[in-house]
Amino acid sequence: MTPSAIVSTHPLVLHKLTQLRDHTTPPPLFRALVRDLTQMLIVEALADAALRPCVVRTPMAECVGAQLTERVGLVPILRAGLGMVDPILSLMPEASVWHLGLYRDHQTLQPVTYYNKLPDALPIDLALVLDPMLATGGSAIAALDCLKARRPTRIKLIALIAAPEGVRAVTAAHPDVPIHVGVIDERLDETGYIVPGLGDAGDRLFGTM
Ligand code: PRP
Ligand code: URA
Repeated sequence: MTPSAIVSTHPLVLHKLTQLRDHTTPPPLFRALVRDLTQMLIVEALADAALRPCVVRTPMAECVGAQLTERVGLVPILRAGLGMVDPILSLMPEASVWHLGLYRDHQTLQPVTYYNKLPDALPIDLALVLDPMLATGGSAIAALDCLKARRPTRIKLIALIAAPEGVRAVTAAHPDVPIHVGVIDERLDETGYIVPGLGDAGDRLFGTM
C-alpha cells in the first residue's frame, strides 16, 4: 500500500522542519519550531472546518461574518504531543484538551498506556490527535482506537514527521482518519526510529537527552 497522508508542501514548513531536524538545535529553539510548525499544519488541517454565518458590525457598516461551529478537542499523546497544544490553543482558545499518556516499550515497540482519563463520551465534534512523530504507528493507532470508542464526529491526526510504515499502518487500521504531516521520511531503522527524522522528539522538546 502506498502511504497516503496530506503532506504540507509549504516552503516555510520545509524550512522550519530542516531547522527542527538539526542535531545542534537546542530545546528552546526546538520548542519554538514545534510551535510554528504546529500552527502552520493546523491551519491546513482546519481548511474544511464547519462555519455558520453571523452578523458583525464594523466601525463602518454591518456585514456577514463567519463563526466556527465545531467543538474542537485536542488529544495530545504524552509526552511529545504536549508541545503541540499551546500553539493550537493560542489560535483556538476555546478548544478542550484531553491528555493521553502512551509510551513505546523500547523492546517490543508496542504502546503502553499510562494515563487515560477520557470520559465514555467526549463532548466534542472534531478531535485532533497530536504527536510530532508517527513512527511504527502503534501509538497513533492506540490513541485512535481509544478515541473512536468515545464517538467524536470527526478525527484527524496531526504529526510533524512520519515514516511510510506508520502512515501505512494508521491508514490500514483507521482509513477514515485523515493524517496531516509536515513530511514523510525514508524509513524506520531497526530500533523503530525515523530516518532521517530528528531523534527522540520528547527528549529534544524537554531537554532530557
Ligand atoms: C514517541 C512519539 C510517539 C511515538 C511514536 O513517543 O512521540 O508517541 O514515540 O512511535 P510509534 O509510532 O512507533 O508508536 P515515546 O514513546 O518516545 O514517548 P515520549 O513522548 O514520552 O518520549
Ligand atoms: N519517537 C521519536 O521521538 N522519534 C522517532 O524517530 C520515533 C519515535
